[in-house]
Amino acid sequence: MNPNTPKSPSFDAPQGSSAATRFFALVPCAGSGARAETAQPKQYQLVFGVPMVAHTLRALSAVERLAGGILVVAPDDTFEWPANAEWPDHWSRQACGGATRAHSVYNGLLALRAQGAGDTDWVLVHDAARCLITPEMVNALIDACEGDAVGGLLALPLPDTLKLESHGRVESTVAREGKWLAQTPQMFRLGALLKALQSQIASDFQGVTDEASAMEMAGHHPLLVKGNAMNFKVTYRQDFELVEAVLKSRHTGDDLNTQGIKK
Ligand code: C5P
Repeated sequence: MNPNTPKSPSFDAPQGSSAATRFFALVPCAGSGARAETAQPKQYQLVFGVPMVAHTLRALSAVERLAGGILVVAPDDTFEWPANAEWPDHWSRQACGGATRAHSVYNGLLALRAQGAGDTDWVLVHDAARCLITPEMVNALIDACEGDAVGGLLALPLPDTLKLESHGRVESTVAREGKWLAQTPQMFRLGALLKALQSQIASDFQGVTDEASAMEMAGHHPLLVKGNAMNFKVTYRQDFELVEAVLKSRHTGDDLNTQGIKK
């Protein structure tokens, strides 16, 4: 299927099936990525011949437990999905992105529900810009969280010393013990995450910088699941060099070329 065609997959539970919970991916892809200083939004920057986000989707679609997913793009997004980048089965592209990542995720959850996902299904929200995610990392999160009452997120204990700044100088050193860097995917039940985000609409999602923060505001304590430093978010121009070096190290010469990654 091509995302440029309008038909979206239906996630209605099959008739007569037991109410087994399912897992869906939601990839917010509606940011402008200004800090990367690329000509087009960073998620569409070519990496080995295909847009960066195609690498992200390729990894997620290799996770067998994911029943499908949606890519949330900006309403005015005109990016044409290139023919050499594989579009995964059971994924749709929804032009319902909003002003902030939280708006995009909230709108995406509504779209996912409209396609038939249920409130008890799990949703794994993953940044388009974390293109070095692997199926193993996603499976580790699912394994750790699927039996949990709340859900959780991939994260890393803070490796460096943390400084508090005041006017360009160090004000103080913050103890790093117990501090983690949040990554994605972040995995919560669709209904609970929607409710947590809904309660922050009045404040225009102020302080909601990831899904876990919305869940925290709703009184929950998401599980921290140790992630991998490779799962960094491409933010600055130089991050692309790192991405290419890592991809090169993961793939042999014959399946990685300037026409994208072959199956
Ligand atoms: O800007 P930043 O890299 O922190 O964004 C994280 C993710 O959220 C990216 O994949 C970006 O495309 C997405 N995003 C979004 N809608 C926004 C802002 C960011 O979907 N309004």
